[in-house]
Amino acid sequence: MKDFENNMCICYHNFMNIDKLKKEIDLELGKLKTDADCVAFHQKYLSKSGEVTLLMTSLRDIEPSKRAEAGATFNALKKQTEERLFKTQREIKEREQYMKLMAEPVIDITRGGMGGNAPYGLHPITIISREVEDVFMNMGFVIEDGNEIATEYECFDSLNSPAGHPSRDMQDTFWLSDGRCLRTQTSAWQNYMMKKYGPVFKAICPGRTYRNENLDATHDTTFFQVEGMMIGEDISISNLIYFMKQALTAVFKRDIKVRLRPGYFPFVEPGFELDASCIFCKDGCPICKGTGWIEFCGCGMIHPHVLREGGIDPTKYQGFAFGFGLTRLAMMRWGIKDIRLFNSGNLEFLKGGAK
Ligand code: PHE
Repeated sequence: MKDFENNMCICYHNFMNIDKLKKEIDLELGKLKTDADCVAFHQKYLSKSGEVTLLMTSLRDIEPSKRAEAGATFNALKKQTEERLFKTQREIKEREQYMKLMAEPVIDITRGGMGGNAPYGLHPITIISREVEDVFMNMGFVIEDGNEIATEYECFDSLNSPAGHPSRDMQDTFWLSDGRCLRTQTSAWQNYMMKKYGPVFKAICPGRTYRNENLDATHDTTFFQVEGMMIGEDISISNLIYFMKQALTAVFKRDIKVRLRPGYFPFVEPGFELDASCIFCKDGCPICKGTGWIEFCGCGMIHPHVLREGGIDPTKYQGFAFGFGLTRLAMMRWGIKDIRLFNSGNLEFLKGGAK
């Protein structure tokens, strides 16, 4: 009987002092600063022998008529305390993780490379390709991605270069045993693009190209090109000049002049070699061989045969096409003197050191 009275006394005491306990919990929660504080708080109030849990276990000693009400109150306090502790603990953990992260050196894999300040970075071809894509996308061009293995038709026949045509000799080709080839030019994607988009479109297709070259500082078997096409009604050489000038000016971030010289490619008529004003000098340097102009790319008005092969009526629509070396552009941009570095896996090169 005496024990029972004592228990009752404790419970009564606890129940009556629940407001005091709540205030204490409020105060303690406000003081939590570290994860360890949270663990200690849990131990003190919410563990098996914690003060809030003990309230629950003492319920059975409360007068039966008051048990339900007391139980609901204790339960509410337990739930509320757990939730508040959980929230605080999560915030503290996040803050601790953030502080830890901030104390570490920053790693941004998209920075650095080619003169950036990090000892790693994107490959120069990736950097320049993304820049070129941005420039053309801003001018309304679609970005296409062609297959690196092309059929003979895609790479040559559809481009007005049938078997036996001397123009095929301009591009020493890796033939596969099934008659297909590694595309020697991104122009291999022209026919596909015309069939996909029909007679009115603007698109570029950057990608890897392959030729059976003897390796030296300016020749590699694997390099990157960007093909560009614009087809529609009343498209003329002025459109070609305009877009090339805009694109080069955006890539080099300075006013670039362009000029056309006659050039031969079987799939354009008239065909041109496009020169860009030298980015290294004003009036002649060894790179532009004293001319002030750098040979930049092949281009021209798409040959009527090529349009027809693509399902486009050349009497109604015209277009221009250009194809430039992305690898060459990167070499110009960063003053890289040896093309073989691009596929060398040389880490110094990726850091911007070896050129
Ligand atoms: N495909 C040509 C080359 O690789 C470049 C080119 C593309 C020329 C489009 C004219 C038009 O040399």
